[in-house]
Amino acid sequence: MGGRIPDSFIEEVLARSDIVELIERRLPLKRAGSEFQARCPFHEEKTPSFTVSPKKQFYHCFGCGEHGSVIGFLMKYEGLEFLDAVEELARAAGLEVPASGSQEPRPDVGLYDVLAACAKFYCQQLKETPAAIEYLKKRGLSGEISRDFDIGYAPAGWDTLIKHLGTDDAKLALLKNAGMLSEGRSGSYDKFRDRIMFPIHDRRGRVIAFGGRALSEDGPKYLNSPETTLYHKGRELYGLYLARQRSGRLDSIIVVEGYTDVATLAQFGYRNTVATSGTATTPIQVEILFRAADTLVFCFDGDKAGRKAAWRALEAALPKLREGLQVKFLLLPEGEDPDSLVRKQGADEFGQLIANACPLSEFFFDHFTVDLDLGSLDDRARLVERAQPRILSLPEGIYRDMMTERLETLARHRLQGQQPVTRDLSAGPAQRGKPSQQRTPLRVALAHLVQNPSLAGEAGSIEDFAGLGNDELHGVEIFKELVDFCAQRPNISTAQLIELWHDHPALTHLQKLAVWHLPGEEDQQEQEFIDAVNRIRLTWVDILLSRVTNIIEQRDEYRALQQRQQELKKRLDDRQS
Ligand code: UTP
Ligand code: MN
Repeated sequence: MGGRIPDSFIEEVLARSDIVELIERRLPLKRAGSEFQARCPFHEEKTPSFTVSPKKQFYHCFGCGEHGSVIGFLMKYEGLEFLDAVEELARAAGLEVPASGSQEPRPDVGLYDVLAACAKFYCQQLKETPAAIEYLKKRGLSGEISRDFDIGYAPAGWDTLIKHLGTDDAKLALLKNAGMLSEGRSGSYDKFRDRIMFPIHDRRGRVIAFGGRALSEDGPKYLNSPETTLYHKGRELYGLYLARQRSGRLDSIIVVEGYTDVATLAQFGYRNTVATSGTATTPIQVEILFRAADTLVFCFDGDKAGRKAAWRALEAALPKLREGLQVKFLLLPEGEDPDSLVRKQGADEFGQLIANACPLSEFFFDHFTVDLDLGSLDDRARLVERAQPRILSLPEGIYRDMMTERLETLARHRLQGQQPVTRDLSAGPAQRGKPSQQRTPLRVALAHLVQNPSLAGEAGSIEDFAGLGNDELHGVEIFKELVDFCAQRPNISTAQLIELWHDHPALTHLQKLAVWHLPGEEDQQEQEFIDAVNRIRLTWVDILLSRVTNIIEQRDEYRALQQRQQELKKRLDDRQS
């Protein structure tokens, strides 16, 4: 459980962290009884339904259902991986993460260091290479921007990086795992040669990959690091770390395609720019971006590829749209990219373009109607056919309503007198709502246990349940396992429990129960738990009784059959004699 870090360490980290303190530093928390409340950072809302429980060391939003421990919060809010979240908490708590010991070493050990060393080497090389400095100057990038973005230069030789950093086998292996080498017939050589180097930072500011722009015109214009343990293209955004570092939460973020676009826009004052680095925008990226800002402006080239990229971005954004969030599109004139345009037109003019960017809804319907004649009945039907499924993928709320209305307006003539679009559209996932979980004694007992693990001591003898398995009572095996687990750790919190059961198949089930509302006053909860456990006992006794009844019935039947056997035998014997 919990990756390669020993469970005991995760337990310790959680014991030394305080969820209220951690969240308070990021959101304004207000006390409400024994818990704290805030407006949920994971969905848009006016009245707070995000609650933090100091006792459970758990957060839960009644609005959107998000919940978890400090680790979960950091992962979700800061976009960290599990191990990074643990590491960050450990550091804050003054604990040393067990790096190796009996455990297998983390796959990323040394990779961050080697990538940082590469970045440093490239920066140094830039200073010593007039041709590279000249190139940046020619492109109009200032020294200040080059420094801010740690722009560097990879020398032209085949093994300058290897010679500088990787002469022994271990170092060579690190460089390779960091994605810095290519493999040829006669071994490894530097992947990036004679290129301007853009280091890509993760959300904690560590270098995890590079993009390299060729100085000369032969060969591919850009080379990017391959996917590595540290670098997953679809989860990263070039420039995001720097943008956030400058100003915590941003009002808006401009999303562009290229590295140079980010650097140039920053130079013209648009520090809130990030790049997808030549890949399609993913839903994860949209989620990460919405955590940093409420408004996203996708600013792509006006050519076919740019339009396609914009549409992909729209598709990634649709399911994330909620009240208060906005997505806009700015498609530039053919032949221009943000870099060239802002240089031609100046910062103010570019700002105007951004401000007047096309709202998502407009872009959406333009896309679907561009080849249609809305005066034609058939085409209006075609529009509904195309647009309706996408609108249904939107989360419920005013955004969806607005898009529905717009579709209705555009298709109205056709739909009048027939099935109204609105009803059609809302009869989607909304009505297929999940049935609420029934409060069976087993679930109630589990919920109490998860929310207050110290109750395990009140469960009484687990021996009573010997022989009772999931076949007889679904879920009872988890119950027994959980009682046993908690009884051994009487002081564990809900959060610790959830994290320690990280890999358990029942995890999601327990997470749901962790945020169940348990009726009754605090001082009655123990009794409620004991009652629930006794109800389970009663169920088991009922089952056993019915088995015994079966046996008794069978015994009667046995006797009857035996009697009948005797009679028949006797009758036959009498006939023979
Ligand atoms: P562009 O071709 O628009 O590059 O590709 P650019 O940023 O305007 O580059 P300059 O201004 O000519 O220097 C946009 C992005 O697509 C990726 C890169 O991430 C680039 O920044 N790309 C492009 C590649 O990965 N490989 C390529 O060969 C070209
Ligand atoms: Mn360009």
